[in-house]
Amino acid sequence: MQPVAAADITAEGGAAPSTIPGPRPLEPLGVEVPSTVPTHWYNLAADLPVPVPPHLHPGTHEPLGPEDLAPLFPMALIQQEVTTERYVEIPQTVREIYAMWRPSPLVRAHRLERALGTRARVYYKYEGVSPVGSHKPNTAVAQAYYNAVEGVMRLTTETGAGQWGASLSMACALLGMTCEVWQVRASYDSKPYRRMQMETYGGICHPSPSDLTEAGRAMLAKDPDTTGSLGMAISEAVEAAVKDPGAHYSLGSVLNHVMLHQSVIGQEVLVQLAEAGERQADVVFGCAGGGSNLGGLTFPLIGQNLREGTTTRAVACEPAACPSLTQGEYRYDHGDVAGLTPLLKMHTLGNDFVPPAIHAGGLRYHGMSPMVSHAVELGLMEAVAVEQDDAFAAGIEFARAEGLIPAPESTHAVAAAMAYARTSASDGEVVVIGLSGNGVLDLAAYSAYV
Ligand SMILES: Cc1ncc(COP(=O)(O)O)c(C=O)c1O
Repeated sequence: MQPVAAADITAEGGAAPSTIPGPRPLEPLGVEVPSTVPTHWYNLAADLPVPVPPHLHPGTHEPLGPEDLAPLFPMALIQQEVTTERYVEIPQTVREIYAMWRPSPLVRAHRLERALGTRARVYYKYEGVSPVGSHKPNTAVAQAYYNAVEGVMRLTTETGAGQWGASLSMACALLGMTCEVWQVRASYDSKPYRRMQMETYGGICHPSPSDLTEAGRAMLAKDPDTTGSLGMAISEAVEAAVKDPGAHYSLGSVLNHVMLHQSVIGQEVLVQLAEAGERQADVVFGCAGGGSNLGGLTFPLIGQNLREGTTTRAVACEPAACPSLTQGEYRYDHGDVAGLTPLLKMHTLGNDFVPPAIHAGGLRYHGMSPMVSHAVELGLMEAVAVEQDDAFAAGIEFARAEGLIPAPESTHAVAAAMAYARTSASDGEVVVIGLSGNGVLDLAAYSAYV
């Protein structure tokens, strides 16, 4: 069945016929889900000594109310955005889908340890086992599910490298919905296989900025040759959703409910490290674009620090070309270029910052998750910036030692962890790398470095 190309309709400003006939696969299948698949998401907000600053209305600058977000998100996700409950139950339909690839493996990187000459014990948590090849489906499935429960049949979104667009396209396919994606122009041109992946799942993919939205047309008028940015693509996807009463918008990172859904990663790590006989992770490295794989991996461990006195260090690894945590200001800013989103308290390079067209398209974001930003401000997390050449060199070394080719985004965490294990780690220290995705669809980017 061909999904409706609703962007054409939103460009006219009319209502979109965004429905797919037939039964909707929302009910659990009733299959057994292994007990190792988490039953609840973990929420760091419950354990923070100081609450995360609220999101503000872009017009009034007052804290947002649920009704402000209702045109964009289903009520269940709006509640998750503000909840301070420590645990939120994962719906059984979502757990059944998670069981297709969860728990993801935590692997001891023996060969990498030998190559590095380190006495540290290095592990990597590998999210590339999901059907699309990254951590993004952990929240895509949850977000699509809650929208479907509310009767929303069409989701719009942005994507950088395409991992998120592919994940939401897959989730929409599994739950009988349509998905329309604005992909940052730089990645749309350089990574055609991701677009093909989205289309295989039934998603519709446009390069951003596009002439399908007012925001896109304004950006093209300003700079017809722009390579685009996640901030621009968000503006387009938000505008398309707001103009279609049958559609909602879905964000692949940054927001609190995305951090919540990704917490399955870190919760599994806690169990898997204990099974491996480790008392705690000493240092955990995760790459940081909007902060979701990093938050998902580290928040459960930071929560354990706060509750039980463990001493895990969490290190955010961002690209030197887009250094929001290490160079940005901590202030309220929009999540997008056009200023359509709420104001978020975060580390930002400014919402009009256009990052250079680096290969790690998923890290080209001007801002950062408010929860990650807050954790850094509270001293619960550290941040480093990694140069692209160092990241690819580390990705190649990792691939030659462990066999896996990390996603370009993930190589930032790999590089920082390898440098640490090589030079600073003490004997027996436990180092965990967040390997957020695989790079098999990013080999063109690697080929410049081999
Ligand atoms: C494999 C991979 N890792 C990391 C990221 C960065 O996003 P986040 O910081 O939300 O995890 C992306 C974004 O597309 C990605 O595809």
